[in-house]
Amino acid sequence: MKRNKVVAGNWKMHLTANEAQQFANKLRINLLDTHGVSIIICPPFLGLKSVFDTVKDSSIKVGAQNMHNETQGAFTGEISGEMIKDIGIQYVLLGHSERRHVFGETDDFINKKMASSLRVGLDPVLCVGERLEEREAGKTSEVVIRQLRAGLKEISEAQMAHVMIAYEPVWAIGTGLTASREQAVEVHEIIRDELASLYSGVIAEKTAILYGGSVKAENAKDLMSHEEIDGVLVGGAALKVDSFVGIAKAAMEIN
Ligand code: PGA
Repeated sequence: MKRNKVVAGNWKMHLTANEAQQFANKLRINLLDTHGVSIIICPPFLGLKSVFDTVKDSSIKVGAQNMHNETQGAFTGEISGEMIKDIGIQYVLLGHSERRHVFGETDDFINKKMASSLRVGLDPVLCVGERLEEREAGKTSEVVIRQLRAGLKEISEAQMAHVMIAYEPVWAIGTGLTASREQAVEVHEIIRDELASLYSGVIAEKTAILYGGSVKAENAKDLMSHEEIDGVLVGGAALKVDSFVGIAKAAMEIN
């Protein structure tokens, strides 16, 4: 089954709302026709509205980088999925390794966010990935399967139509160390097999699995040329117009 490629940019804590708007405008001009590739940009919360307004008539989509699972309440400093959905945003990254390892988010909390995001009509990208010591201890598969099972707990087969998975080995994020295509494919296959056992072969075939971790214009094509790698989640290289557009164009050539 052919799955369209996806290129998502995670801007992390970079760019003010004004800078984000200007940057999004440059991307819009450079990516007028995405040739069926889904392009998703994820600015910080404060940039979501200005970026969304800038690209809403283009084929670029917008995602948030996180959300809280409750719809409202005494959660100082938090943003709910409803608030994100309300301004027109379609996607949300959940369980990013920085949320897990810098901010201590647990599998259980991430699962609550998954359920909540789907309930309000957002399309979540569930991020999973092992740390270096886990890989070295031969625990990659165990860790990824645990995060996947926990993140998808009680998520229905119908809801899976709105879910993407991103495999992001923690040791490759922001380090310049990219997983080789073979390493990435090996874990993508583990994830797809697990989706087949949790749901069905059809769901496994339909679900997009992205790779993330030091993706650049130079390695994006090689990674995405394998049919198992449905796209990329890009951090650092998403913050420069040329490199992000280069990655998007690499996806378009393969798509
Ligand atoms: P990186 O980040 O591309 O800078 O390694 C990827 C990510 O954190 O999603």
